[in-house]
Amino acid sequence: MNQKLDDSALETLFREARTYAAWQPRPVADQTLRDLYDLLKWAPTSANAAPARFAFLRSKEAKERLRPALAPGNIEKTMMAPVTVIVAYDMKFYDQLPKLFPQSPGMKQMFESNPQLVEVTAQRNSSLQGAYLILAARALGLDCGPMSGFDNKKLDAAFFAGTKIKSNFLCNLGYGDASKLHPRNPRLTFAEACRIE
Ligand SMILES: Cc1cc2nc3c(=O)[nH]c(=O)nc-3n(C[C@H](O)[C@H](O)[C@H](O)COP(=O)(O)O)c2cc1C
Repeated sequence: MNQKLDDSALETLFREARTYAAWQPRPVADQTLRDLYDLLKWAPTSANAAPARFAFLRSKEAKERLRPALAPGNIEKTMMAPVTVIVAYDMKFYDQLPKLFPQSPGMKQMFESNPQLVEVTAQRNSSLQGAYLILAARALGLDCGPMSGFDNKKLDAAFFAGTKIKSNFLCNLGYGDASKLHPRNPRLTFAEACRIE
């Protein structure tokens, strides 16, 4: 049985959490990135396949390698961020299924023979894992700036050449500078976005 989180935790995870484009000059420790992965890895994926792969870029060299792939509007915020995560997925994620989902020995073969299923499973579940990363980061006191404004092909050539790994989206990580936030945009109401049948 889950315990309901208190209001201050819900503020941190959802209501007060914003998307940041400016950062305090405060580094993010390697241990915090390890803690981040060790939280998000527990959230669910289909067949426990966990197709996401995460590249945490913090060095000047890695940021410069990323720069040419970024949309112009995403360059400055990314160069300034203490860390930029590439949320990617491994198109050969099914090689890990004998370890990750041993109760279904036929699963690996099923994916091997169905490239379309591989693609949709990898995209769906790595997107979920990217969302888990955002919430886990917030739970650890970090702020996020997710981005899809970049050239996936260029990025993949720069970071994943010769592998079966493909980028999904990017997420800047750090401690946000709240003084640079614009007023928050509204969200759809329950009536606009949901129905109960
Ligand atoms: C998958 C994804 C891609 C995004 N791509 C970009 C982007 O390329 N550039 C950018 O400035 N913001 C980007 N955003 C940020 C959104 O515009 C922002 O999260 C949204 O407006 C909500 O803002 P708030 O969290 O401050 O309320 C992206 C967000 C997500 C989740």
